[in-house]
This record gives sequence, C-alpha cells and structure tokens, in this order.
Amino acid sequence: MRHFVIVGVLVAILTPLTYIGLSSAHMMPVEASAQSQIVDQMWNWDMMAVSFLLALIVVPMFYSLIVFRRKKGDTTDAEHVEGNTKLEVTWTIIPLITVLVFAYLGAYTLGETRIADPNAMVIKVRAQQWSWSFEYPDGFTSTDLHLPKDQQVVLKMQSSDVIHSFWVPEFRIKQDVLPGRVTDYRITPDMIGSYKVRCAELCGTSHAYMEANVIVTSQADYKAWVADQVAAAQALAAIPGPNAARGEKIYEQYCRACHSIDGSKGQSPTWRGLYGSTVELNDGSAVVADDAYITESIKQPAAKVVKGFDAMGFNPVNAGVTDAQIADLIAFIQTLK
Ligand code: CUA
Repeated sequence: MRHFVIVGVLVAILTPLTYIGLSSAHMMPVEASAQSQIVDQMWNWDMMAVSFLLALIVVPMFYSLIVFRRKKGDTTDAEHVEGNTKLEVTWTIIPLITVLVFAYLGAYTLGETRIADPNAMVIKVRAQQWSWSFEYPDGFTSTDLHLPKDQQVVLKMQSSDVIHSFWVPEFRIKQDVLPGRVTDYRITPDMIGSYKVRCAELCGTSHAYMEANVIVTSQADYKAWVADQVAAAQALAAIPGPNAARGEKIYEQYCRACHSIDGSKGQSPTWRGLYGSTVELNDGSAVVADDAYITESIKQPAAKVVKGFDAMGFNPVNAGVTDAQIADLIAFIQTLK
C-alpha cells in the first residue's frame, strides 16, 4: 500500500510538471482565426491527457526499477502472479471512457470550427503542381490570398492534378484539395498580418515549395486592394490581341511554379531566350521554338519533351487555359530575350 501511495503522489507531481513543460515549449504559432481558439483548447485537453499518461507510465516504471531491483545475492524467482479480474476490468473501463470523452470533444471541436455564417464570402481556390491561385467574387484572379479581418470566408477548393492540402498553421484548419471534387475550407481571420499557405500533402518534387501568401488586412484595406485588382484586370482585358502583360499574369497563375524566366533551371525548361531558339528534345531530334511548337507544348506537354526533363502530369488546358491565353503567353515569352 505504501508503494501505491508514493507512486500516486509522484504521478500527481509529474503530471502538472510535464504539462507546464509542454505548454512553455510554445509549439503553436499565433492564433489568427476565430476557429483557432477552440482548436487550441482541444490541443490543451490532449496535452493534459498526454502529461498524465506519461507520468502514469514513467513513474511506476522507474519506481519499480529502483525500489524492486534484485538485492545482492538474491537468486530466488520473483513471486508468480496470475490473473487479476478487478485490475483488468479497471484498465479496460477507464481508457474506454477516456477515449469516448475525447471522441466527443474532438467531434464537438470539429463542429464548432464549421459553424457557417450565411454571409460568408466565397473565394475559389485552384491547386496545381506546385502553386495556388485564388478567384475572387469580384471576377479577378490572384496568386495571393487577401482576406478581410473578421469576415468569414469559404474557400471552394479544387485541384487541377493530384491531391494537395490547404494548410495555414496560424488558422489551424487544414483541408485536402482534390481533383474532380470541391472541398470547403471555412475560416474567419481575426488578426491582421501576413501568413503562408503551405501544401500539407506530398504532391511531387516541388511539394515543399508549394506556398502562397495570405494577407489579412482591415476591411477598408481589403476593399481598396480589390478595387485596384479589378481596375488592373479590366485595363488588361481591354487591350486587344495577344498581349505580353496579360501573358505574364497567366504565367504567374499557371506556369511560374515550374518554368523560370531568369534562365535558372527549374522543374521545366526556363522561358528566358526560349522563343526562336533551337530546342533539343529527349528523342535526339531538335525543333525551333516557334508559335506552333509552344502551343503544342502547352496543349500536350508530353508530345515533345525537352532533353534532360521529364514530361509533367500538369496540363494547362485541363486547368482552364484558353487559346486566347496561350496567344498572350507566347507574346510574353517573346519578351524574355
Ligand atoms: Cu501540393 Cu504538396
């Protein structure tokens, strides 16, 4: 009995010490969304349970190692113990109840993070290897995610190729982005600042670099930014014919993740000096990079693969790039001497 009391006291001491130690490690980034508080509350409950379990395992283990170690010259066997129904029932019932309580808390927390505001703003998100783009309700697209503070937003997310995962650590919520199916990500940012979307699903070579800026601003700053974007998009759209500035926008949205424009080697050939050059292909032949070749390579990326590169799974046409946009892209490539 004395041993149980001592172990009990030690467990009661080690549990809060472990919890304080874990809490002071500051494992979480700042809370930047309304949903993050309830998630962190759940995390705290988990840490309390983890601290208690650690103490419950470590204290009896070390206590037994030290107090019940074999005495010098003692060669007898230890006492044989067989079966203890009370103990077995106890260590079945208590963990069962604990697991059920935590399952309830988890489901409750998930439900709290999904409470829908009927006035939530909808932004469409497209993920592709290896970039993000955001289509705003005002009809323009950006590679940055600007959000107004204290306004709930629903991201309607879809992938152009493989499975990605939309994760902003400061918002706490994470959601897979799938090809052929729209998934929702509901968030109410409540702290002005700059954050990053990080892809949280291994999606190929440049997965680690699949990031986008998240900028949370005041409502007024957000409105001003939207007005600027709308004006710029309208001005660009009004220019007739193939246009390099429009092409650059499309490049940023669809192509930048793999093709550099400064001559550096990426996942795919650089566009610097591409137009009109002679390109060596991996079947040993060569081709001049003219309109026809570039158009074909955009529409069917696997048709003619440049020497030293692999054909990519991403197809810009499936992602929504139109013929007019391809003409804009070629106009942009022509400027990259
Ligand atoms: Cu997209 Cu990892």
